[in-house]
Amino acid sequence: MTGSLPPARWNGLVIALHWLAGALILFLLAQGWIMIHGGFGAATTFDLYQLHKSFGFVVLALTAARLLARAAFTAPAAAPKSAWEQRLAAFVQASLYALTLAAILAGWLVVSTSPLPIPTRFFDLFVIPNIAAPDGALFASATLAHALSAYAVAGLVALHIAGALKHHVVDRDDVLTRMLPRRSSPFSLREKGRG
Ligand code: HEM
Repeated sequence: MTGSLPPARWNGLVIALHWLAGALILFLLAQGWIMIHGGFGAATTFDLYQLHKSFGFVVLALTAARLLARAAFTAPAAAPKSAWEQRLAAFVQASLYALTLAAILAGWLVVSTSPLPIPTRFFDLFVIPNIAAPDGALFASATLAHALSAYAVAGLVALHIAGALKHHVVDRDDVLTRMLPRRSSPFSLREKGRG
């Protein structure tokens, strides 16, 4: 049986979804913290909550698209590294997906069970339905679960970035560059300029 070789780089769609979702998750972490601890007035806080919830649902759609894209496209070959590094990288990546989804579902539960029901208006376009009825005890647990899973995502993102930088700077392999958008080299641009 002959199998085709794994590609040298990630598929362009996987790359685009990875950086878009990563940027939005970092944005939501910072924006969520500012929204809670920034001490804004009621009107600004209301707008920040609506923005936070809307971008949270964008991340939900992007995460679903990322999982589908990962299943649809073949991954590049695993970089040669020790067994513990491979296990750690796989654990961090799987936990990032799981905890991102957990943070989103807990956030959805927070707004659904809130004793002060406020509709979630997706970028002021339409209302996203609640997934549970108001319930004080569930609201308190979901609020805690949302904060814990969101800050756990922050910790995992830090580990994930540290791993990517170690590959680039210490191991000097292509694990980081094969997840970057393809660029023409400066040499080929100079060549084009001459012609
Ligand atoms: C990956 C996606 C998300 C991230 C990283 C994230 C992150 C955060 C962070 C860091 C906070 C501040 C927590 C604190 O310091 O107490 C927060 C608060 C909050 N988030 Fe999210 N969030 C996400 C998605 C969502 C979604 C989808 C919803 C709702 C549909 C949501 C609803 C809320 C609410 C209601 C609060 C305020 C909770 C409170 O009153 O203490 N979040 N979020």
